[in-house]
Amino acid sequence: MLTVAVLISGTGSNLRALLEAARHPDFPARIIVVGADREADGLAHAEEFGIPSFTVPWHEHESREAWGEELARQLDVWKPDLIVLSGLMRLLPPTLVARYSPRLINTHPAYLPEFPGAHGVRDALAAGVSETGASVIVVDDGVDTGPILAQERVPVLADDTEHSLHERIKPVERRLLIDVVRGIATGDLALTPSS
Ligand code: GAR
Repeated sequence: MLTVAVLISGTGSNLRALLEAARHPDFPARIIVVGADREADGLAHAEEFGIPSFTVPWHEHESREAWGEELARQLDVWKPDLIVLSGLMRLLPPTLVARYSPRLINTHPAYLPEFPGAHGVRDALAAGVSETGASVIVVDDGVDTGPILAQERVPVLADDTEHSLHERIKPVERRLLIDVVRGIATGDLALTPSS
């Protein structure tokens, strides 16, 4: 059974979808812990599902490295086979990436390498494209530059707002994320580090 830690910053709707998938007895992975960089609303999903959680507050650390060291200390308690960044809105320090690579994956609300970064949905809208997408990637030291594990196109509608477009992307992200975690757990999907 693949053990998974999930890291979040926000509402955790994708986390919740993964928790729901993982509670089925035939799903080959288990969420063992949820972590956050702040008092994220999504931690409530972990509590509801009886999953332990921890917070490593970004603003209480003097540097990215110091924050990453504490995050690694927390993760090492649980020794997850896989770490999923599901809306964690922080760049991990290179030491943390090196420690867990390639067992670190990230979901992103755009069709990478298009529109990387913190505002993938807003940037796609501003660019006036007719379609964007969702991606699941292996984390490397860049901003959303790691190997792509799964991705799918999502149309942009003429009257879309950032919110409406993001809400259309998220169900696709959830499906991709669940499929990727299942594939890693069964061995159908291999994780390869960035070259
Ligand atoms: C998701 O769309 C995720 O891809 C995005 O934050 C959202 C979190 O939603 N992450 C990024 O943009 C990272 N660059 P949620 O908290 O409702 O799951």
